[in-house]
Formats: sequence, C-alpha cells, structure tokens
Amino acid sequence: MNLIRSDLWRWLCLALALVATLGFTQLAMAQADPEREMTTAAPAIDADQWRQVRSGETGANYRDSRAESNYNLINSSGESWRQWRNRWVSPFGLIVIGGMIGIIVLFYLIIGRKDLEEPRTGRKLLRWPLFMRALHWSVASLFIVLALTGLNLLFGKFVFRGLFGDAFWGWMVSSSKLLHNYLGPIFGILLVVLLVSLIKDNLPKKHDLEWFKKGGGMVGKGHVDAGFANGGEKAWYWLLATVGLLVIASGFVLDFPNFGQGRDTMQWANIIHAVGALGLTAVSFGHIYIGTLGTEASLEGMTTGYVDEAWAKEHHNLWYEEVKDQALSEEEVAAQKGTKGSGDAAPSQPS
Ligand code: HEM
Repeated sequence: MNLIRSDLWRWLCLALALVATLGFTQLAMAQADPEREMTTAAPAIDADQWRQVRSGETGANYRDSRAESNYNLINSSGESWRQWRNRWVSPFGLIVIGGMIGIIVLFYLIIGRKDLEEPRTGRKLLRWPLFMRALHWSVASLFIVLALTGLNLLFGKFVFRGLFGDAFWGWMVSSSKLLHNYLGPIFGILLVVLLVSLIKDNLPKKHDLEWFKKGGGMVGKGHVDAGFANGGEKAWYWLLATVGLLVIASGFVLDFPNFGQGRDTMQWANIIHAVGALGLTAVSFGHIYIGTLGTEASLEGMTTGYVDEAWAKEHHNLWYEEVKDQALSEEEVAAQKGTKGSGDAAPSQPS
C-alpha cells in the first residue's frame, strides 16, 4: 500500500509500458503479413499456381527456377523462404525485442537500480585498459548501427514508407543496406578480436552456477562470488562467441555471393542471420541496461578504465582479492592519466 501511494508515478509508467508493449506486439502481428506484401509484389500468382509449381508442373508463365531452364519466373523455395521470413522471423523478432524492453522497464520500475551497499572508498582499480575500452566501444557502436540498419531492412517499410513517401524511403533503405553490408565485416573482425582478448576471463567456473542460482544478486542484498567476469557477463560472452559468430558467418555468406553459393544456401543464411541477430539485439538491451541504469558505478569502468574498490568488492569479490594491492588514490590515477594520457596505470588485469 505504501509503495502504491508513494510511487504512484512508477505504477503509471508501468501501465504505460505494458500498454506500449502490447501495442508493439499487435503491430508486429499486423504488419508482418506475407499476403499483404504479396498483393503488391506479385499480384497475379495465387495459391493454386504455387501448388502447381511445387508439384513440378510448368505453365506458360511459371516454372520452378531450380528446374533446368533459363525460364526462371518463379522460385518455389524462394516463396518458402519469404513465408518463413515474413510470417515467423519478422513478427517473432519484434515480439522478442518488444518483450525484452517490457521486461527491462518492469524490472527497473519494480526492483530499481542495484546501488552500492557500502560507501565508495575513493581508491581505484584499473579494470579496462585503453585498448579494451576502445575495442569494446568500437564493437558496441558498430553493433548498434548494424542493429538499427538491420531492423530498418526488415521492418522499415511498414513505418517509414508511409510516413516519408517512396523517394525518401528508397534513400533510407538503400543507405541502410550499404552501411549494413560494409560495416558488417568490420564488426565481425573486431568482435573476434574482442572475444579472443576476453576468453581467459570468461572460462566457466563452479561459482558461476551459484551466481545463476542466486540471480546474480540483482534483487535484494547479499553477495555472490564472481571473478573478473561474473556469471551474467560470461553468458553474454558465450552468446556472442556462439550466436554472434553464426550471425557473422551467415552475414559473410550473404555479403559475398560470388563464391558459388546457390539461392537455397543464401536463403538459409538469411534466416539464420536474422534469427540470431534479432535474438542478440534483444539480449543486448539487457547488457546495456545492466551496464548503465541497472547497476551503480559499472559504466565508469568502461569509460574511465577504473572502478572503485567498493564496486569491485561487491560485484567481483574474487577478482578484488587478486588485485586489491594495486588500488590507487584518485590523485595517483589523475597523475597516471597526466603522464600517460590514457588512464592506464600498472596492469591490474586478473591472472
Ligand atoms: C551502449 C551500449 C553498451 C554499454 C553501455 C555497455 C557497457 C558495458 C560495461 C559497463 C561493461 C563492463 C562491465 C564490467 O566491468 O564488469 C561492458 C562489458 C562488455 N561488453 Fe558492453 N556495453 C554496450 C554494448 C555492448 C555491445 C553491443 C557488445 C557486443 C556486441 C558488448 C560487449 C561487451 C563484452 C563482451 C563485455 C565484457 C564482458 C565480459 O567480461 O565477459 N557491449 N559493457
């Protein structure tokens, strides 16, 4: 009762978030209707003709393009791909992304930020040297551009074509495609460098299981053991190392169609690419939330390179025990930055 009275605005926001999430879901279902697109893309082809093509019949105007012929008006497997993409991948992708946003908003409104339990000591530990910060932010920025352009390629026509008209929409979608195609391989290479640089700290350990059992200590007080990377970070790492690499590999198949891969291979690559990328985009919201609004003092590690001892003790106690002797005062950190210009003092990366 107290909570309701004192935090009325929170509940209002919560109701709004729920309504917005439902609206988002409805939009996904309504817009990704393959038949709607079909009426403008190929108005003369109906279900009977598809049945004839699939059964191997040929007609005056149609024949499966996989048949030995130059007369390639209709590609039957292409129609299956289109159905998969428009009926399943697009709408469920939106639902997963919208659902994730809804869950994060609810979590923030009900549980709120994880604050430091002890006051800051003012003594700092180097967590992310300049090279790792530059790598992280390059990968993160590219990921965000790829996510936005990718979402535009998949859903943009339902929103921006009507809003801005064909000419502007045409420019939007072709620039999205160019950016996506050129930045994709750069992202792929940098992500592999990031994954290789972090593998040692992300090998699974027994205490990670405990971390998951206790929900990472995100709710309430209480500590959970964690080394340099905690269970949640390791899960994000391994998701990138598996699904992320699959998305990159399928992206290369799509980006370089000049290696003899056939249409069917490209269609499979497209579905794998879209499902993986939409899933990663949804999970990335969780990562971004935890790194910013969700946890006090996490972001400063990735911006300045240094974290406060209090944060290290609460979130990465096993790492803290390894590196606590290397803590510096704020003046020492400032002096380091002054002399080195990078904020990277003596290495305090874990063993
Ligand atoms: C604006 C977006 C982002 C923010 C604010 C953000 C923030 C952060 C922060 C604060 C950390 C350090 C956590 C710690 O010290 O324990 C971190 C680590 C990390 N981030 Fe991000 N990040 C963003 C986007 C991304 C993206 C898009 C990716 C990958 C595609 C990514 C991959 C990683 C990885 C792999 C780590 C290391 C986790 C580990 O050690 O396993 N980040 N991020």
